[in-house]
Amino acid sequence: SVPVITVDGPGGAGKGTLCYSLGSQLGWHMLDSGALYRVTALAALEDEIPLSDDDAVAELARHLKLSFVPAAEGLTQVLLDGRDISLAIRSESCSAAASKVAAMGEVRAALLARQRQMAVAPGLVADGRDMGTVVFPDAPLKIFLTASARARAERRHRQLMAKGESVTLARLLETIEERDARDRNRAESPLVPANDALVIDSTGISADSVLDTVLQEARL
Ligand code: C5P
Repeated sequence: SVPVITVDGPGGAGKGTLCYSLGSQLGWHMLDSGALYRVTALAALEDEIPLSDDDAVAELARHLKLSFVPAAEGLTQVLLDGRDISLAIRSESCSAAASKVAAMGEVRAALLARQRQMAVAPGLVADGRDMGTVVFPDAPLKIFLTASARARAERRHRQLMAKGESVTLARLLETIEERDARDRNRAESPLVPANDALVIDSTGISADSVLDTVLQEARL
C-alpha cells in the first residue's frame, strides 16, 4: 500500500510548513484536509445554506466539484467549479464557518472517501485533525504537532500582519481557544493524538528543528 505520513494538531502549530517541507523533500503528494472543510463552508455561505442544516451541508459536501492545483512555493490553488477560491477560503468568516461545518458528523463522512483517494504513489503527507486517528489509521508515521495557544496566536498574528490584515493578538488568542474547544469537544472525530503518534511541542522551536526531529524519527 502507499505510504502515508499523518500530521495532526491544533490550528497554528506549524503543520502546513512541516507538511510542505516533508512533501517537497520526499516528492510525495500533500493533502490539506482543512481546505475541504473550508470549501464546504464557503459553498454553504455562498448558497445561503444555514449552518444549522447538517443534511443540506453534507449534501453539498458530497457534490463539491473540487480540484487542487500545485502552485508556487508551498501554495496550492483550490478550484471550485473551476473558479479559484484559494484566497476566499482563508478569510476570517470562512474560517469561522469551517470550524462549525467540521463539527457535523455527516459532513465528515461525506468527505472521507475524497481524502482516502489522495493516497497515491509515491506517498502522501496528510495535514489535518483526524488524519492519524480516522482517515489513515494504518499510516506508518504519525505526527501530532502542538504548541501553546499563545505561541500559535503569535504565529498567526505574524502571518496575518504580513498579509496586511489587522487583528489584535488578544482577539486571535480568543478565536484560537474557541476553535480548539470545538475541535476537542465535538462528538465526531475529536482532536486527540493517535495512540501511536509522535507528539512534538513546537513552542519556542524553529520550523527547521521540528523538521529535523521528524526526519530523524522517520529515518528518511
Ligand atoms: O486546518 P484548517 O484551519 O484549514 O482547518 C479548517 C477547519 O477544518 C478547522 O476549524 C478544523 O476544525 C477543521 N478540520 C477538521 N478536520 C481536519 C482538518 C480540518 O475538522 N482533518
